[in-house]
Order: sequence, then structure tokens, then C-alpha cells
Amino acid sequence: MNKSSLASGLYKLSQKERLTFVKEFANLTDEEAALLQNTGSLPLDLADRMIENVVGAIPIPLGLGVNFLINDRDYLIPMAIEEPSVVAAASYAAKMVRDGGGFHTSSTPPIMIGQIQAVGMKDPYASRMRVIKAKEEILRKANDQDPPLVSAGGGARDLDARVISTSQGLMLITELHVDCRDAMGANAVNTMNEAVAPLIERITGGRVYLRIISNLATKRLVRASCVVPKKSVGGEDVVDAIVSAYAFAAADPYRAATHNKGIMNGIIAVIVATGNDHRAIEAGAHSYAAVSGRYTSLSVWEKNESGDLVGSLELPMAVGLIGGAVKTHPIARIAVKILGVKSANEFGEVCAAVGLAQNLGALRALANEGIQRGHMSLHARNIAIMAGATDELIDKVASKMVEERKVRMDRAQELLDKYKATGKI
Ligand code: MEV
Repeated sequence: MNKSSLASGLYKLSQKERLTFVKEFANLTDEEAALLQNTGSLPLDLADRMIENVVGAIPIPLGLGVNFLINDRDYLIPMAIEEPSVVAAASYAAKMVRDGGGFHTSSTPPIMIGQIQAVGMKDPYASRMRVIKAKEEILRKANDQDPPLVSAGGGARDLDARVISTSQGLMLITELHVDCRDAMGANAVNTMNEAVAPLIERITGGRVYLRIISNLATKRLVRASCVVPKKSVGGEDVVDAIVSAYAFAAADPYRAATHNKGIMNGIIAVIVATGNDHRAIEAGAHSYAAVSGRYTSLSVWEKNESGDLVGSLELPMAVGLIGGAVKTHPIARIAVKILGVKSANEFGEVCAAVGLAQNLGALRALANEGIQRGHMSLHARNIAIMAGATDELIDKVASKMVEERKVRMDRAQELLDKYKATGKI
């Protein structure tokens, strides 16, 4: 029978009642229900205060990206990700980059854009002029909302107003430029947006609908670059292959999507480890990749006069070190401590370096032996474990499957059966 998922007020139930609800709905065993509630380092009552309708927590592996030298300083990179090979590839690439002096990074001030949508004006273009003229009053009203941000050196700095043509006619979009300092900024910006909306209505004579931050954070950019000696990357042929892989991504959106996914593999792993908003970062990165009107590669790879590989990456990075899960999640706090970053800008720059390393790791593997070999050896271990291998048998079964290029459950089972019968793989 199809059970109903209608459950108004689920959030008001106790943990126990909620567990009973999901247990009955999904026929969970006692063991499964207990596992769900075994939330380890994120206590259930804390998880319960973070989101709604909580029934458990899902742990993901936290690995360490190593070898990172960024602006002459060594960093250990906490990376939370379910995908094999990502941490290894980033570390391997960081080692190659280290041979060329490491990563060099920079960033703009941490300015986020808040959008206020006004519709129905008789004179949208003249409204725009009036909004721009009233800039000081609007900014004052915005800054009144967040004295702590202002005293930390941040706050609404500037505004812009654009008339856009839509299927519903002309609209006036006022944009607040808010220096968010070490916050990601969504709360600060949205509060300011909402506070200035009545002012915008009064000035324009229009009606304000949306008042929300933009994730296309073009005023909060981070940049990383590196030189990889040709010897470290595997010779000039490999340099050429990587430059050609970049040219492919720059020219073709189908390839660019995967190329950029590779960059985000590293960045999102750090973002997740530190409890930051990975959806905001993904949205910002991919929309920035299309900001010219055509989706393209976020990174650039070139060959310099000496035949060495030169990489650069620029993307929006709305990260924070204060507020939200970054502060409440105990593991996120430890991850930030491992990173040792002192400001959101420094953090964002480290993320750019990790993204560039991840991209290099993927392109080097693709340009050489392909990614499957690296992927497969880790995957093979998982398959061996799932087939029932334990202790040293895990590696034996896994290596045999990789050697035969038959990384499959049925083959793992056959090998284990053979071992049981003969004592050999
Ligand atoms: C896999 O997670 C990421 C890659 O596909 C990235 C790329 O193709 O550049 C290997």
C-alpha cells in the first residue's frame, strides 16, 4: 500500500516520534533506525537545531589535501567528499605546482550584490536616475541594519541600478554592493535589501517584489595562478596536451561543464568540510563561467617561453568564517582550524588554489593514462569489500581485478571463492 507522506507539524515532533514516523513509512529495521540516529560528531540535538525534520546525519569522509604551498605558506586542506581520487589528485597536483614555487593568489574585497526588483513604474529610466541620486540615503538605511558589520569595516558601500527588459515589461533592478568582511553575507545583504525596499518604492513609485542576494558574485572574486615546470608535469608533450585540453573546454560548453566540474570537485570538498554554502559557490562559479554570454572554462592553461605550464583561475567565492554551520558544526570548526585561515578572503584564495590544483590533476591524468586507472584502484577496493573481502584480501582482490581490468562484483566473488578453495588469488 502507498503510505502518505503528508505530515504537517513533523518538525514539532520529538526525535523519537519522528524516527517512528520514518521507520514505519520506509519499513526500516531497528538496526537501520539506530544507525540513522548514530550521528557521531554532530550531536542529534545540534543537527535538530540546524535544519528541520531531522532524523539523522550522514557522515562523509574527510580527507587531507597535502603539499599545498600558497603564497609561500604551507596549508593542509580538509576535503569532505564521497568521490575517490579527488584528494589524491589534488595532492599530487599541488606537489607538481610546489616544484614551480607554489600557488600565487589574490582577491577583490568581499563585496556581495543584493538585488531589489521594482516593477510597474511609469518612468523606469527616470526612476533609475532618482534611485542613483538617493544613493547616500539608501546606503545609510542599509547600514543602519548592521552596526556590527559596519564597525568591523564592512557594510553597504555603493549601489547600482539597471533597467532590464523582461517578458513582464521593464523592471528596475537596484543593486546594493555590500562589503561582507568575514561573513558569507546572505543574511546581512538580505536584511539590508528588505529594509531599503520601502525607500525604493517611495522613490520609484513602483512596487518592489524580490529582495535577495545574487550568487553571481562578480565583485567578490578570488584568483590563483601557478607555473608547473615541464619536467614535473611529465614533459613538454604533456604540457601541450593540457593546453589543448584547456582549448577544448574553452571552445565547447559540453567539455567546459566537465572541466569546471573537475575544478569544483576540489573547491566544494573544502566548502563542505568547512560547513559553507556549497550551492551558493556552485551557482556563482557556473554562472560566472557563462558571464560572457557563452559558457566556457573557468581556468586557463598556457605554455610559457620555457615550455612550462602556466595555469590561472578566477571565480566568485562567497565564503564565510563566521555564522551558520561554519560556527555551529563541530567538525567544520576543526576544519577551519586545520586550514588556519584568518579571513574569508584568505579562505577564498585557498579555495581557488585547490580548484586550480584539482583541475591540473584531472587534466594531467586525462592527457596521460586517462582517469580510469586511478579511479579504478580505489573503486576496486570498495568492490572487494562489498564482496566480503577483509584484511589483506581486500588489496589482493582489488589489485587482481585492476590488473585484469575487470573491476566487477561477480569477479571479486569468483576471486574470493577461488581463494577459499585454493588459498590463492
Ligand atoms: C571527475 O569527477 C572530474 C573529471 O571529469 C574532470 C575533467 O574531466 O576535467 C575528471
